[in-house]
Amino acid sequence: MQKFIITGGRKLRGELALQGSKNSALPIMAASLLCGEEVVLKSCPRLTDVYAASRILNCTGCKCSFSGSTAVIDPRDVSRTDIPETLMHEMRSSIIFMGAVLGRTGECTVSIPGGCELGPRPIDMHLAALRKMGADIREEHGRIICSGKAHGTKISLTFPSVGATENIILFAVNADGETVINNAAREPEICDLCGFLRKCGADIKGDGGSSIIINGVPKLHGCEYNIMPDRIAGATYLSMTAAAGGEIILTNSCITEMEPFLSVLEQTGCSIMTCGDRIYLRSGSRLKAVKERIRTMPHPGFPTDAQAVLMAALAAAEGTSVFEENIFDCRYRHVDALVKMGADIQAVGKIAVVKGVNRLHGADVAATDLRGGAAMVVAALAADGTSSVSGIHHIDRGYEKMEDAVRLLGGDMRRS
Ligand code: EPZ
Repeated sequence: MQKFIITGGRKLRGELALQGSKNSALPIMAASLLCGEEVVLKSCPRLTDVYAASRILNCTGCKCSFSGSTAVIDPRDVSRTDIPETLMHEMRSSIIFMGAVLGRTGECTVSIPGGCELGPRPIDMHLAALRKMGADIREEHGRIICSGKAHGTKISLTFPSVGATENIILFAVNADGETVINNAAREPEICDLCGFLRKCGADIKGDGGSSIIINGVPKLHGCEYNIMPDRIAGATYLSMTAAAGGEIILTNSCITEMEPFLSVLEQTGCSIMTCGDRIYLRSGSRLKAVKERIRTMPHPGFPTDAQAVLMAALAAAEGTSVFEENIFDCRYRHVDALVKMGADIQAVGKIAVVKGVNRLHGADVAATDLRGGAAMVVAALAADGTSSVSGIHHIDRGYEKMEDAVRLLGGDMRRS
């Protein structure tokens, strides 16, 4: 099993262009199934989850290939509607292929998706919404067998689920009539998905707000589309620099979409300036603890995906910070590793109390999920001595060659 070897104590300096967004590329790749012509996706991140999505596309009969950061998808020959369990288990995003395959062919067989273990991750909202839209869905021996054509209806989500919102949109774009989603997710990746679908001829309004209206159209054509930058990768590299010290410029950044994170990060005492798509961050002295409680919330609240990396940066801050994880039931699995590196963190239920220590020290730790693994790298870069992070297949799911990015910024990190 591969691991990262990281020696801390170096300040980070330099310029880094942000990768394309994993959480935008994945639903857009699923959405390409609905198109009648070739789709070209620019700024598509080179990630294992993206390659897993391409395997699902190829399994259905689409042809998906890559050239650097460009994905070319020919969706004309969809001939298979059941997605094998092995492919479904590779990531959480596989579940949104349900809405896409069903919307394209009128039938689909899937199973419970895989993905980061962050506590129970049911799909009850997905299934309830598609049933209300006209799908017949039955569950047999772990398989979910769907059939039917969507008709317009009103869906009120009990929680603004990102995945459920995406599945509804994918099933609704070719529906008979108008679909209204109330309490829809407002994440920027939802807007990017809708931007892609509109460019392919879909009639969608209201994305980015809590009420999205989709008027079904007979068919979608292809397009060339530029995937938005990855706001969580941005938060990760800014947290690394805040923790290790130094000054970096992030280019190809989505500043507005990162505002919920940036507004908290600047409370740590870092100097942050933005201009166009560039974020400049300087971290000269020891970070300060964040006084107000850091509550993870649906967008435009503080993003749950940035909780772990910010916690790692605050582990050696001056003072005590308090986190409240409101999205997932079990998203503090990185705490044990940070404590092993010398952090003083007490996590009980939703709350994690982070008492800043003077210094962290290197340790051998194991990543348990994507963002928790990234947090271990943040901590290792700030720690005295050398650390190893195993289980880096979790990290490769969401970050393009993290070790190359860190080395570009002057950090001492290698894959072994
Ligand atoms: C997406 O996951 C992201 N993944 C997650 O990023 C992100 O943390 C999450 O949205 C919240 O922003 C992708 O986009 C691929 P949800 P998703 O449906 O769609 C519960 C990362 O690190 N729920 O908004 O699974 C669910 O259990 C990943 O990149 C139900 O109860 O998130 C969770 O507690 C991690 N029933 C909450 O809602 C349902 O039917 C939010 O889930 C659906 C969800």
